[in-house]
Amino acid sequence: MTDLTTMYLGLKLHSPFVASPGPVTGDPAMWPRLEAAGAGAIVLPSLFEEQIEHEAFAVEYALGYGADSNGEALSYLPHLDGVEVGPDHHLDLVEDAKAALSIPVIASINGVSPGGWVRYAKLLAEAGADAIELNLYDTVTDPMTSATEVEHRYMELIEEVKQEISIPLAVKIGPWFTALAHTAKAFELAGADGLVLFNRLYQPDIDLDTLEVRPRLQLSTSADARLPLHWIGVLREFSRGSLAASGGVHTGMDALKLLLAGADVVMTTSALLRHGPEHLLDIRRELVTWMDERDYDSVRQLRGSVSRANVPDPDVYDRANYFQTIHSWVERAH
Ligand SMILES: Cc1cc2nc3c(=O)[nH]c(=O)nc-3n(C[C@H](O)[C@H](O)[C@H](O)COP(=O)(O)O)c2cc1C
Repeated sequence: MTDLTTMYLGLKLHSPFVASPGPVTGDPAMWPRLEAAGAGAIVLPSLFEEQIEHEAFAVEYALGYGADSNGEALSYLPHLDGVEVGPDHHLDLVEDAKAALSIPVIASINGVSPGGWVRYAKLLAEAGADAIELNLYDTVTDPMTSATEVEHRYMELIEEVKQEISIPLAVKIGPWFTALAHTAKAFELAGADGLVLFNRLYQPDIDLDTLEVRPRLQLSTSADARLPLHWIGVLREFSRGSLAASGGVHTGMDALKLLLAGADVVMTTSALLRHGPEHLLDIRRELVTWMDERDYDSVRQLRGSVSRANVPDPDVYDRANYFQTIHSWVERAH
């Protein structure tokens, strides 16, 4: 029997397949299906800093200026049309998921500034979450703000969240840091027990009929798994904490490559949205078949065996990869 157990954030998971935040993990009807299909854990949709600030601002304004002004107060805040404000829904989700599932339930908070809102991490922990995932989704457009300032702000935020909770903390980041290995280390030192690589960053699109800039959601494909594969392969050597791969996990082979690079768990959202929770059974089947054919008994045995530290030529993870990649095209063309 192939042993798929893995440790993630100090939690023992029976499989490395984690359902990452999204509509599937936010739907209680999907929870038993995810568990039955072999999910090792689920991460619930994020409680956003804006959802909390929105409510707090509205309450303060209403108290100060009379309840009638509440509508006016709300107009100063970011548009959250169709999104629940306040934490109640998320706290209920944690409680309900814990009651419904025997696998770990990770609650997610999503924000970029230190401040009062981080106390909601504590409330989510008190509601029963097994760990907290802090998503640092950010778009820094101010030319007066430097990378150092931004990274220090993130570290302060990680420290603040860590102080609020006694359960493990994962930090989900984007790929666009100038010195990612250094930043990852700094985040670990600030209190991250693990890193989730990566946030999928969404770029806006232009509607050519209306000339409006619009958000446009695109689900990932397997090609997107190369980015987490690259950086997990590099960071495995330096990281003391857990590494979760997020982005482009659609098949058992995608999962396998990320585990070989050094991931402790592989996360998936797009594939679950496309095919439903039972798709995890296919991912699992493909992984186990490959392992059986090559006499691997456990995920532990293969994890990280093709990381930067464990390949004969570590340069393939560095600049040399670029050189070889473009020249491989020229060679193919002739
Ligand atoms: C519709 C949708 C909603 C999402 N909501 C969240 C969220 O609330 N919090 C979060 O950290 N990530 C969220 N994500 C990002 C996913 O968790 C995941 O990191 C990303 O989609 C990349 O993984 P994938 O390639 O498997 O889709 C969402 C993604 C989608 C498509």
